[in-house]
Amino acid sequence: MNTDKNPQKIKSMFNEISPHYDLMNNLISLGSHYIIKFLAIRKLEIKPRSNILDLCCGTGDFTRIIRKFYPRSKVIGLDFSPEMIKLAKIKNPKGAFIQGDCTDLPFGEREFNYITMGFGLRNIENRESALKEIHRVLDKGGKFLHLDFGYRNIFSSIFDLFTYLVTRFTQNKEHYKYLLQSKKEFPEPDELIKEFEQQGFKCVKVCNYFFGAISAQIMEKV
Ligand SMILES: C[S@@+](CC[C@H](N)C(=O)[O-])C[C@H]1O[C@@H](n2cnc3c(N)ncnc32)[C@H](O)[C@@H]1O
Repeated sequence: MNTDKNPQKIKSMFNEISPHYDLMNNLISLGSHYIIKFLAIRKLEIKPRSNILDLCCGTGDFTRIIRKFYPRSKVIGLDFSPEMIKLAKIKNPKGAFIQGDCTDLPFGEREFNYITMGFGLRNIENRESALKEIHRVLDKGGKFLHLDFGYRNIFSSIFDLFTYLVTRFTQNKEHYKYLLQSKKEFPEPDELIKEFEQQGFKCVKVCNYFFGAISAQIMEKV
């Protein structure tokens, strides 16, 4: 049976783990998550004065990187967890963040040139609705960067082991069990790309990190 991804449950989980979220990410990935986020965003080749939406922004890492390296663009971070948004605002005092749900975006059609989503889609119960919404608010020819765990390989097993070891010492063991389970159930990149294509995207670039254990797909709205 698949993990329960009831949105209320997922929201409470992220609210609860928010105080330790960044620390745990740093420990589990030995800091590499930030470098990977940076490298993936560079691959988008963002044009100046673009409108960018960072979905499932969490504590705002993507938003921060975009603001720093593309200061002439406008970026909005969106997440449904108020606690994650609070932290994002502390880390990015001048950033724009809103609380919202990816399956019902509070924006009009074709408002954004780029949409980013890191480690988010895996947690969404209704992926199809989220992808439809991303397609709706993205401009024609606009790009959607999706980054998450990719292929099951030796690096992905090492990551699982690190997660297990690090979380033995935390109070949020259940939540990290969820992380491992959701990772196992999430489609590998080839399958995911087919889902994106069904919603009207075409794949323009795939970037693999740790031999694909983490993978980014850049999709264009056609
Ligand atoms: C694993 S975190 C990723 C955060 C950040 N993008 C990063 O890479 O560090 C997933 C985030 O997705 C958010 N999220 C999950 N489902 C969502 C939904 N339906 N709408 C908006 N945010 C959602 C959670 O609140 C959480 O902050």
